[in-house]
Parts: sequence; structure tokens; C-alpha cells
Amino acid sequence: MKFHSLGRRLILALVVATAGAPLPAGAEEPASRVSAAENFRWYCIQCHGPKGDGKGVNNTEKLPVNPRNLTDGKDMAQFSDEDMVRTITHGGGASDLSPIMPPWGNVFTKREIRDLVALIRKMCNCRFDPKAKEAFLKQQGR
Ligand code: HEC
Repeated sequence: MKFHSLGRRLILALVVATAGAPLPAGAEEPASRVSAAENFRWYCIQCHGPKGDGKGVNNTEKLPVNPRNLTDGKDMAQFSDEDMVRTITHGGGASDLSPIMPPWGNVFTKREIRDLVALIRKMCNCRFDPKAKEAFLKQQGR
């Protein structure tokens, strides 16, 4: 009985302590227990390939648009982090790209999507280049 009430008081104290604790900057969501590499392996390699080079098993001639080669730094520089977040969350269609790229907003947390973007930045070894984006949009007549 005594232990029971002590336990309850401890839990209450913990709840109060964590509720009041300020979150460190940029950590509005707790870190995912699943790494971005693991998420990529489960959800993305069938199209983008284990290395991200676009050579997944779904990349056949039957596909009208090829899964993008995420390791092509020159090509990937046209996408800002926000572009990638939008595409991964809402699918290719939301970024005027092919809807073959599926939406993942119901699968991952926002944090996990940002972690995936960071992983892709490592794969392409590239940074966003606004000039590359301009050239891409022009080429598409936009
Ligand atoms: C069903 C196949 C398929 C799967 C699964 C898939 N993709 Fe894609 N993805 C595509 C295709 C196709 C494109 C190219 C769309 C285009 O260029 O019109 C693309 C493009 C992209 C791009 C570049 C476009 C942009 O705006 O950034 C990123 C980044 C990307 N995918 C990330 C991912 C991630 C992360 C996953 C796993 C969570 C994933 N994809 C799963 C097919 C897929």
C-alpha cells in the first residue's frame, strides 16, 4: 500500500518534471527509434535501389518514369530540402513530379522524413543549388 502510493507520487513528479522541461532547439519531436537508413531499406529501395541509385527491382521498362537516381548530385541539387520534404510527405504529384513516387506522410513522423532528407543529401553528396532548379523548371516549360 505504502509502495503503491509512493509509486504514484513518483510518476506524478515525473510527469510534472517532463512537462515543464524545455525541449532543446530543433528537437520538437523525439528522435525516432528507427534510423533513416533502416526506413530507407524498408520503404524506398524497391524503387530507388539499396544504394539509392534508382536501380530498385521496380525500375523496369514498364515504368513510365524511372525512380530518381538519388546519388546523382548534379540532378539532385535542383531540389531544396523543402522540396524533398514535400515530395516524400505528399508524393511526386505534390511537387509536379510523377505520382509514381508515393506519399509517405502517414507512414513517417516529420522528424523521420527530415532524417530521410539528410540521408539523401549524403547519398547525393550535394547541396541545393537554386540555379539548377531554375534550369530544371525552364527545361520543363514552367
Ligand atoms: C513506387 C516507387 C517508389 C518508391 C517506393 C519510392 N519512390 Fe521516390 N521516386 C520515385 C519516382 C518514380 C521518382 C521520380 C519522380 C519524377 O521525377 O517525376 C521519385 C523521386 C524521389 C525524390 C526526388 C524528388 C524530390 O522532389 O525530391 C526523392 C527525394 C525520393 N523519391 C525519395 C523517396 C524516399 C525517401 C522513399 C522511401 C520513403 C521513396 N522515394 C520511395 C519512385 C518511388
